[in-house]
Amino acid sequence: MIGLGAVGAFLAVDLGAVAYANRWIGSDGTRKVFLDGFRTVNGPQLGFRKNHAKGVVVTGYFESNGNAQDLSRAAVFRPGQVPVVGRFSLSGGDAHAPDTPGAARGLGLAFGFPGRAQWRTAMLNLPVFPDNSPRGFYDRLLASKIVPGTGQPDPAATKAFLAAHPETAAAMAIIKKHPPTTGFGDSTFRSLNTFYFVDHADVRTPVRWSLVPQQNTAPSPKPGDTNGLFDALIRQLQGGPLRWHLLITIAEPGDPLTDATVGWPADRRSIDIGLLTLTGVATEAPGNARDINFDPLTLPDGIEPSDDPLLSARSDIYAASYRQRTGEPKSPSAVQVTEVGA
Ligand code: HEM
Repeated sequence: MIGLGAVGAFLAVDLGAVAYANRWIGSDGTRKVFLDGFRTVNGPQLGFRKNHAKGVVVTGYFESNGNAQDLSRAAVFRPGQVPVVGRFSLSGGDAHAPDTPGAARGLGLAFGFPGRAQWRTAMLNLPVFPDNSPRGFYDRLLASKIVPGTGQPDPAATKAFLAAHPETAAAMAIIKKHPPTTGFGDSTFRSLNTFYFVDHADVRTPVRWSLVPQQNTAPSPKPGDTNGLFDALIRQLQGGPLRWHLLITIAEPGDPLTDATVGWPADRRSIDIGLLTLTGVATEAPGNARDINFDPLTLPDGIEPSDDPLLSARSDIYAASYRQRTGEPKSPSAVQVTEVGA
């Protein structure tokens, strides 16, 4: 659900009225309004995530090098390994949409899974997020609805949306300057939202994190393959492990901590805090990452959320999406690992 092509038909007239009637910002109505919005734009998508519906499951481990210990007391940052379960995805609520390079690539990770002191994060291959408020996300969701017969969002609605959300227009300009790489394997994934690392003396340091790929190539999607990006990732993983360095970037006074549409200056201090190695890939199935909610507020002692309003909204809405999808009948995911040959 990224890109101007995904910002179209402006249904704010009807659903927006419902949203206001429910006073959805900061209330329980938020969840219902978002779930109704996803359903209006994408249909029911029974059993699938209501956003980032198309995905594949991965497993591996994270090896901390101990470099984060001065800033965070989280156990995951002591030197050593923890198991990781993850899920690569494409943005959008259609679980069978053909892969496109313009869709944002997601990576959800649960560190220490299964275990008690978990850290979960859901990251994107974008330099900034298109929205800085739940309302902006919601308006963009509605504006992305395809107009029947045209295959495109309504251009007038796109224009109206961007006029109402200059922060998104500015973010889109930044995103356009960072075209996506060939595939998942050579993508950098970023937290975009800000968090605090908290040390043993309760000193809080504002950080954003990113996963920087060690491999600098990914196989190209095969022409005509509607799962081309995922299938290329599966082939790459079948050929051997894939690795990403986990970097934290530290804010300086004045850097925006609650606005994910704005990046930090490139000269901010970054620290390499460990290596993620992914070794396994599997089709979504009962008991694997299909059934995990990569809630960005599932944080261990030693990591705390910032006041970015996206974070609490995400936590609420992911939980609502999780509850809805786990109660629905299931059908096979579009990406089937066993169907992918060399
Ligand atoms: C208000 C803003 C946002 C809303 C309403 C929203 C909504 C959602 C929903 C409903 C899901 C499916 C959850 C599930 O069923 O488990 C989801 C998944 C995801 N979102 Fe967001 N999202 C928002 C912002 C973000 C941001 C800022 C990022 C990244 C920095 C992000 C990255 C992801 C990823 C990677 C997934 C897939 C995780 C998985 O595989 O389970 N989202 N989002």
